Amino acid sequence: MTTLITNIGELTTNVASPDDRFGTLRDAAVLIEDDRIAWVGSAAEAPGADDVVDAGGRAVIPGFVDSHTHLVFGGDRADEFEARMAGVPYAAGGIRRTVAATRAASDDELRERLAGFVDELHAQGTTTFEVKTGYDLTVDGEARLARLAAEVTPEVTFLGAHVVPAEYADDRAAYVDLVCGAMLDAVTPYAKWFDVFCERGAFTPDETHRIMLAGIQADLLPRLHGNQLGYGEGVQIAVEYGVWSVDHCTYLSDEDVAALAASDTVATLLPGVEFSTRQPYPDARRLIDAGVTVAIASDCNPGSSFTSSMPLMVALAVREMGMTPAEALWAATAGGATALNRDDVGVIAAGKRADLVLLDAPTRVHLAYRPGVPLIDTVFKDGSAL
Ligand code: NIG
Ligand code: FE
Repeated sequence: MTTLITNIGELTTNVASPDDRFGTLRDAAVLIEDDRIAWVGSAAEAPGADDVVDAGGRAVIPGFVDSHTHLVFGGDRADEFEARMAGVPYAAGGIRRTVAATRAASDDELRERLAGFVDELHAQGTTTFEVKTGYDLTVDGEARLARLAAEVTPEVTFLGAHVVPAEYADDRAAYVDLVCGAMLDAVTPYAKWFDVFCERGAFTPDETHRIMLAGIQADLLPRLHGNQLGYGEGVQIAVEYGVWSVDHCTYLSDEDVAALAASDTVATLLPGVEFSTRQPYPDARRLIDAGVTVAIASDCNPGSSFTSSMPLMVALAVREMGMTPAEALWAATAGGATALNRDDVGVIAAGKRADLVLLDAPTRVHLAYRPGVPLIDTVFKDGSAL
């Protein structure tokens, strides 16, 4: 089965050339064969196909790759958001409220919720996404969240080190032992990644080191939450272990930026958090100018960023973080793919997965230029229109 998308006014391929690192083509066409891209080129030279989609001069982009979400949870924390907007600061301790609601939810309730979020992601052009555990914090419960997440994505991350749960408040070391031992063992069959929230109020640098070593020993791939709420050692620890991505990077010293620039670690910026917590946005321009690979992701979770919208992340990155529209789109597609160690998505080229989005707009600039407007026309995932 072949489908030709033709008459594309502006095609962003993310295949870098010496004069355009975003691989922009005008008057282009893409041939899809089954779940893969078979050919990319000029519309005038396009081959025939079983089906033809006329893009009518509009823009086509790679499907968004949302490399950071926390989508398996019960309840919400709208009351906290409301209080924040009245001046109460964000604190990681709120995570415990979601832990209580998640523990109380049945498998079917969580599954249904998750399916709703997946529909939400697809409708906004996201075709690949990561999901973390971290809202149960018991051995069986974390395994349950990982199993449910694995039903909807191969990119499952074990985040037992989200916060120390209330029942271990007086014995943090015992909780870290549990994360590194029985909990890690129970979750490993379902997870590809592990993550630590290294931050004041969550896990200390010493605890983070212990968990990094245990996760790597279990053959999970490392990623890290760091430097979200203040300056700290998260980024330095991330680089030391060669994690694929260190996420948030809101408060960075010059040494942190230099360490990232000298590493292969992606800095994943999560501007939905700053939007929802009223903290200062991370400085993407500073990172890009230093040579750091930058991704953007939604961090969709009920506490610090309850949005699954990658178009909103692109708009915030451009408006608030000093990125150009093309850089922001790259960060939301190829950048996310790099952060997830995926070379089959985030790029429109022969052999890659046929995950792409037809925009209801003539160029990618409109994603930031028309914030809040539903510009996602048709989403192709594995070659099929959703
Ligand atoms: O990425 N930083 C840690 N975890 C989430 C917040 C989770 C919550 O508040 O429920 C984050 O911002
Ligand atoms: Fe997060």
